[in-house]
Amino acid sequence: MKNIYINYIASQLKKPTGFIGHIVSNKMQKMNEPIYDWMISVLNIERAKNVLEIGYGTGIMMNRIVSNYKNVKVYGIDFSKIMFDKAKFYNDKYIKQGRIHLDFGDLLSYNSSIKFDVVFGLNVIYFWNKLTPYFEKIFSLMNTGGVLYLYMRDTNDFKNHQMAKTVIFNMHDKKDIRTKMESCGFNQVNFIEMNLNGMKCCCIKAIK
Ligand SMILES: C[S@@+](CC[C@H](N)C(=O)[O-])C[C@H]1O[C@@H](n2cnc3c(N)ncnc32)[C@H](O)[C@@H]1O
Repeated sequence: MKNIYINYIASQLKKPTGFIGHIVSNKMQKMNEPIYDWMISVLNIERAKNVLEIGYGTGIMMNRIVSNYKNVKVYGIDFSKIMFDKAKFYNDKYIKQGRIHLDFGDLLSYNSSIKFDVVFGLNVIYFWNKLTPYFEKIFSLMNTGGVLYLYMRDTNDFKNHQMAKTVIFNMHDKKDIRTKMESCGFNQVNFIEMNLNGMKCCCIKAIK
């Protein structure tokens, strides 16, 4: 019974749906607050014109980015309809100003006439069981010299968590991430680490 419940919550984190998806995403946003603060300090947006967020969830990160950096436009792709609706509502002002553009769909089917200077995603890599197609797709969407940032919990720290043990979550090891990124063409792959209130966190950074 407990396993069914954990699997259900894990599937809601992967793709929030319905009423429960609203509750889970509100809770996720509250719990992730320290991560958003840290990631805002890690992302180097200063010179970026076009930024892509993968799996934007409630849309809070993109909102903070456009509020802090006046010359940047943020695009987003998320395959949860309720996250699309929520992020659209939350970012209404910036959408009307043409500074935030939201798409609803899977990253693997996402197409854009714009190439991005910065691409980032928080808590999405766990849901990619095969990394290479995602890394290839991201690489194809970026400008040369563009920077990719993917936030995840530290694999060794998180792998014993009950959520990480479900079939929904994929715990990728850093060596494997680096090898696959490099074989897709990324370079300077490195892992920025941080301890947030006792939680070991990691941001993968790579350059096209
Ligand atoms: C755990 S939530 C994280 C949300 C937000 N980034 C955060 O950290 O608060 C994962 C989000 O990524 C989206 N997502 C997962 N895989 C995706 C994919 N392949 N394409 C588009 N969106 C995806 C989900 O719909 C969900 O909104």
